[in-house]
Amino acid sequence: MTDFHPDDMQVGTGDRFAFQKRHGIVGKSVEIREVVDTIMQVAPTDITVLITGESGTGKEVIAKAIHKASRRATRKFIPVNCGAIPEGILESELFGHEKGSFTGAVESRKGYFELADGGTVFLDEIGDTPISTQVKLLRVLESGEFMRVGSSEPRRVNVRILAATNKNLEEEVRSKRFRQDLFFRLRSVNMRIPPLRNRRGDIPLLVEIFNAEQPPERERLLITEDGMAALMRHSWPGNVRELRNVIESISVLEQGSVVDERVVAKYLHVDDGGEDDRMLPIALGKSSEQAERELIFRMLVDLKGDIAALHRMIEHLDIQKPLSLPPADPSPEPRIDISDKTLQEVEEALIAQALERYHGNRRLAADALDISERTLYRKIKDYGL
Ligand SMILES: Nc1ncnc2c1ncn2[C@@H]1O[C@H](COP(=O)(O)OP(=O)(O)OP(=O)(O)O)[C@@H](O)[C@H]1O
Ligand SMILES: [Mg+2]
Repeated sequence: MTDFHPDDMQVGTGDRFAFQKRHGIVGKSVEIREVVDTIMQVAPTDITVLITGESGTGKEVIAKAIHKASRRATRKFIPVNCGAIPEGILESELFGHEKGSFTGAVESRKGYFELADGGTVFLDEIGDTPISTQVKLLRVLESGEFMRVGSSEPRRVNVRILAATNKNLEEEVRSKRFRQDLFFRLRSVNMRIPPLRNRRGDIPLLVEIFNAEQPPERERLLITEDGMAALMRHSWPGNVRELRNVIESISVLEQGSVVDERVVAKYLHVDDGGEDDRMLPIALGKSSEQAERELIFRMLVDLKGDIAALHRMIEHLDIQKPLSLPPADPSPEPRIDISDKTLQEVEEALIAQALERYHGNRRLAADALDISERTLYRKIKDYGL
């Protein structure tokens, strides 16, 4: 972490452009300018900053910029995903533990707060922190003190805390999932990052930069006016992350082509969970090599979706069950009377029948129905089966 820039300590708003460039914050909308001005004001201080905004709006980019533009820049920046670490482990990760404090604690270990001494701890997804840990975080924020798990000796470190969430913390406080005192303490400065759809003026610049960032061997895209207009009309529920991914996809598959409205439309999915398996259409008149590349890409896109579905399925899986697959029920398939049924009712009945036949095994049922497991999973949910 050597990219600390001495100029960052004395920037006035006139240097905003250089500052954005240095920290990779793209955007010239009023909203982004305000965000950058705030970063420049808070960075040199040790004040706690709460960054809120939808997923993909750049909360981590901003947290890093605050750290890099601070006196702590040469010390550690440690991001902690408070939502992803299981409750029992989070405290020992944050505060460390003493040898023998729990089964498996064969040695004493420093937590992130000690490791980041002199630097910054970024508490990401703070809204998902268990209440018991919230009490301890409040103590660190108020007194700078904490105790390792299994120790009663208070320790002190010099750490700056930044936090982020895409949850509405006021709402979490109302429903008692988040401590009000911690909320008040965290939001000494609350930076709200607006969704991309509320600052569409930033889209052309982001597109230009993401296009330029592609590997040098890849030909740059030529985006037409109506292509750009289509990009600007989209609602971007996944915000800047989604935009970056779309530009990357187009860049891989349409190398050097002219990207007009029609091309853009192929890559913008209004609702990924909607109809049947989404397939990117292959444009006619492509070379076989290019068509092949597209095919591989589609498979990767689908695979990504399938992995996500798999994760969701694993959550519901009873791991005590033996993993061997049950044989299909040999009883003859009852025929479904379709005379007075709607298409959806027939589909529902067929799915129910396949699930029954394969004892609820979704993979086998999906195979039998000749649909992907992801589609089956979605339909089970839709029909409430
Ligand atoms: N203003 C910006 N300029 C350039 N890149 C940006 C900007 N905002 C976001 N990005 C890019 O978008 C992606 C998502 O950003 P980031 O991880 O900071 O979002 P986030 O708000 O933390 O999302 P999540 O809530 O899902 O964790 C990253 O690739 C990041 O580089
Ligand atoms: Mg993030």
